[in-house]
Amino acid sequence: MARICPDDPNSFANTDVARTTHIDLHLQADFDQKILHGSVTLTVELARGADEVVLDSSFINVQGAAFVTADKRVPLEYELHERDAKFGSALAIKLPEGTADEDTTVLIRVEYATTDKCTAGQWLAPEQTVGGVHPYFFTQCQAIHARSLLPCQDTPSLKVTYSASITVAAPLRALMSALQEGESDVSEHGLRTFVFRQPTKIPCYLIAIAIGNLEGIEVGPRSTVYSEPEMVQAAAAEFSEVEKIIEVGEKLVMPYEWGRYDLLVLPSSFPYGGMENPCLTFVTPTLLAGDKSLVDVIVHEFAHSYAGNLVTSKNWQNFWLNEGWTVFLERKFIAELHGEPHRQFGAILGQRALREAISLYGEDHPFTCLWVKLDGEDPDDSFSSVPYEKGFSLLYYLEQLLGEEAFAMYTKAYFKNFAGKSIDTEEWKQFLFDFMDHYFGQEKIDLLKKVDWDAWLHQPGQPPVTNHYDETLARQCIDLADRWDAARSSEDALEEFSEGDIADFTSPQVVVFLEKLGAKDPFPHTHITKMDELYKLTDSHNGEIRLRWHTICLQASYKPIYPHVAQFLSEVGRMKYVRPLFRLLDKAEDGHDLAIETFAKLRKSYHPICATMVAKDLNVE
Ligand code: BES
Ligand code: ZN
Repeated sequence: MARICPDDPNSFANTDVARTTHIDLHLQADFDQKILHGSVTLTVELARGADEVVLDSSFINVQGAAFVTADKRVPLEYELHERDAKFGSALAIKLPEGTADEDTTVLIRVEYATTDKCTAGQWLAPEQTVGGVHPYFFTQCQAIHARSLLPCQDTPSLKVTYSASITVAAPLRALMSALQEGESDVSEHGLRTFVFRQPTKIPCYLIAIAIGNLEGIEVGPRSTVYSEPEMVQAAAAEFSEVEKIIEVGEKLVMPYEWGRYDLLVLPSSFPYGGMENPCLTFVTPTLLAGDKSLVDVIVHEFAHSYAGNLVTSKNWQNFWLNEGWTVFLERKFIAELHGEPHRQFGAILGQRALREAISLYGEDHPFTCLWVKLDGEDPDDSFSSVPYEKGFSLLYYLEQLLGEEAFAMYTKAYFKNFAGKSIDTEEWKQFLFDFMDHYFGQEKIDLLKKVDWDAWLHQPGQPPVTNHYDETLARQCIDLADRWDAARSSEDALEEFSEGDIADFTSPQVVVFLEKLGAKDPFPHTHITKMDELYKLTDSHNGEIRLRWHTICLQASYKPIYPHVAQFLSEVGRMKYVRPLFRLLDKAEDGHDLAIETFAKLRKSYHPICATMVAKDLNVE
């Protein structure tokens, strides 16, 4: 087996002696064979003595490797190592003797095609799209799937610029996580080439491609919302306020670096709520609630423009630096947009999610640490709310400890200082101390010294300190949930409830109410029936509400909900919804067979990442 990357236990890249600085990608999409084929040319800086360049690859069909110069192409020997089940096959490209007698830079081209086992991409048949006429292809590379899209040094410890051309059959269009440079005319074969450039350095997991029947509507001076034409109006209406969000980021952090902030609304099998692909955030269509109530996901993905995309965690062990910081910024931006009580409200929801995640793993589980050890582990397996919400909790705790003003100054300095870099938790902590020492001196250092760093960063379970959040917006939701709880032992008590109870709730308030209910013991079926009769929860089209409502019903093995769960599972492929619902259905009384059957039926329509994760959750092959 190839040697593991010195900076990243989940990569084989030999970044100590060979570092990619630029990727030039030329691909053509073949929807009949469901593959991309073409070439990638890597600009690689070699340290003296380097005798090979080791790339990550996974289910890639390599056709050749070569040095390229302006006028020459010199074939190179290469070895595709035996596949590691989690990390794929190292592709070692041998350098001719004398190549790196001193430090030097080379261009290496690999000709290749993706295969039907590509885990980054999903090829959708027309009937899996909204329009139903054209096929669609999209990628999701985070965490370690870029290597199944292109051979590359797939570690976030390294950052590259990229350029690309994608050739597709008209009328399909291609979009990428980059600036659009132009497109060719349609050729005699009906093909069209789209050209892209990403001039800001990014980790490879941010390379992204989408191909489909795509239309855009401009919603701001630097923003266009893209989707299939059938939903582009709705999408543009939902996200019409994106410029306001960008302006808040520029005010609280620093100028927006990436030029464009476009959005792409994907087909329903997109496995995440959103993905912060630079210049072009990808989002699930489940955000189109019609009332802008789920726009916080956009705020979150936009906040990654700073945390994650500009300042990147060195490897997936430090993933909390991406997501914890992003959630912290997301909520700061929300406070600026809608007022502090909304930040507090989000934090309460987050605290619930953290508690649930920790109880699902178990208090002692290593994946409940903020810094996680990932030797031999697939980072997708360690994904949970922990890095998001334990990370947020730490940053919020520090903000309260040091004072909001000092922390706001520090936030700006942090992103400015590490922009363009990949860092780990130690570097993050050192800078915090250095900054506070430099600007505020001993008084703040004394505060920082009181923090139980080992418990926060390296111990499993709940954080060592519980933050207290203002309950102004959550109070009514909590009270209502408590009233239902108190009424559980008597059917007469049901008379006190009415439709009006939640009439003034925003949809996030309904979510908090349901979350709170879900944390209690399962409810009697009479109560569930009554609640649904009054609040019409089964009829909701809001994914966040559906998830919580189905959860409460499944926890009580309330069978009338089962067909609705199966229906919901067939409508979306967002893992946040799909994974817990399959798990709960599987555990519910008489739910196991339905869970297995439903998954068997839907498996092919899910994105490969989602299909793999649900298969693991349900213990099926
Ligand atoms: N970057 C993540 C999605 C991700 C994480 C993909 C790890 C693959 C591996 C994205 O920014 C995210 O956190 N999405 C959330 C949105 C939410 C927290 C507002 C989601 O998908 O639910
Ligand atoms: Zn995120």
